[in-house]
Amino acid sequence: MSLPIPTAASNAHKPAGTPVNPESVKDVKLFQPFTQKFVKIHNHIGVSPMCMYAADDGHFNDFHIMHYGSLAIKGPGLIIIEASGVVPEGRITPQCGGLWKDSQIEGLKRVVGAIKSQGSTPGLQIAHAGRKASMSPPFKGDYVEGKSNHGWPKNVYAPSAIPFAEHYPEPIEMTKEDIKRTVQAFADAAVRADKAGIEVLEIHAAHGYLISTFLSGSSNKRTDEYGGSFENRSKFALEVVAAVRKVWHSKPLWVRISCTEYSNPEPMGENADGWDIFQAIELAKEFKKLGVDVVDCSSGGIVQGVEYPRGIPMYQVQFAEAIKKEASIATAAVGLIVEGEDAESILQDEKADFILAGREFLRDSAFVLVAAQALNVAINWPQQYSWAVKSRRNTSKAATNKNSEFMTTIP
Ligand SMILES: Cc1cc2nc3c(=O)[nH]c(=O)nc-3n(C[C@H](O)[C@H](O)[C@H](O)COP(=O)(O)O)c2cc1C
Repeated sequence: MSLPIPTAASNAHKPAGTPVNPESVKDVKLFQPFTQKFVKIHNHIGVSPMCMYAADDGHFNDFHIMHYGSLAIKGPGLIIIEASGVVPEGRITPQCGGLWKDSQIEGLKRVVGAIKSQGSTPGLQIAHAGRKASMSPPFKGDYVEGKSNHGWPKNVYAPSAIPFAEHYPEPIEMTKEDIKRTVQAFADAAVRADKAGIEVLEIHAAHGYLISTFLSGSSNKRTDEYGGSFENRSKFALEVVAAVRKVWHSKPLWVRISCTEYSNPEPMGENADGWDIFQAIELAKEFKKLGVDVVDCSSGGIVQGVEYPRGIPMYQVQFAEAIKKEASIATAAVGLIVEGEDAESILQDEKADFILAGREFLRDSAFVLVAAQALNVAINWPQQYSWAVKSRRNTSKAATNKNSEFMTTIP
């Protein structure tokens, strides 16, 4: 049963992460609202979807309310709740969230309520893990979860019967009937997401999970109409998007893709037989025709044994920029965006339309408030905190000593 959040606990009327004076952000895009299809996101920065491996048979619980609530209270305009399986065998781990049955709506609704009560916009990523399913949560190791641990290693599906790596399950090649059922499962999950109050829905078509393995010639060796040419490899992704768009007609629909698989070590280089930015651009054009609102531009995860760019700030922004320009569709940039100035420059330079951050929010849930401070934007804090705390601590000792707020004694 949903526990309503009382008015006194709500910050929805003046969310953290909004400017104290809207006039003051005329030239600062990060803190202006972002509106799509009547959904007004209160700034241009959101929490990237991040699996928490804490659900019970796909049901969200108090952990998720606490986790997402603690992020929402500190001001991101959007929170995309983690990858949630559209079928039980489409979870990465037995502890992943899911939305394949109606009993899962209630827990999600409570998380949505917590997020909305702080004025943030609740998003959700719907997913099928494909050949990367039935694995352990990464903090436990990197092994197949067997039946005794609630895994399903003999019930793992992929476009072709090729495991992701030696220590991953041997997947079953999907029949056309399996494909049809899975497309329907994405649409059914979208309907449940709507019932739970989700406002932005993201389809996970990245990182070597089911949809992205259909897209890449490295993982898709089918000889029917779902394999071979770019058009055939894209067919499943486009069927999923079309089916979801049909039931999710009035709210924003985002799709996350990998923009390269790094088989060609040059990130913007060609890899026509596998997956590359050129195919990603063509795919984005097709998404646009189907009414996708944002392409969320990530990379990698499709094949093993390739080199990833390491420690390069904003390493995926080049993909968001290329897709935005070439496919004329809005993009979200993600990946090592950890400074407010960088986030703002991406928007100012029109390389992307929205900023997502992942790990930085885990390090510091006040990332949005920190970014505002870096950009000299006077920002609202949650009312329950703001009478006591108005800015983040500047960790330099000299600055701290000069900052009267830190030196104030509160009785
Ligand atoms: C703990 C964790 C869980 C993640 N889970 C997901 C997920 O559910 N779906 C997804 O598309 N990406 C997932 N990612 C990738 C992030 O959304 C993000 O794209 C990536 O971490 C790069 O952004 P960052 O440098 O800001 O962390 C996850 C990342 C982390 C660290």
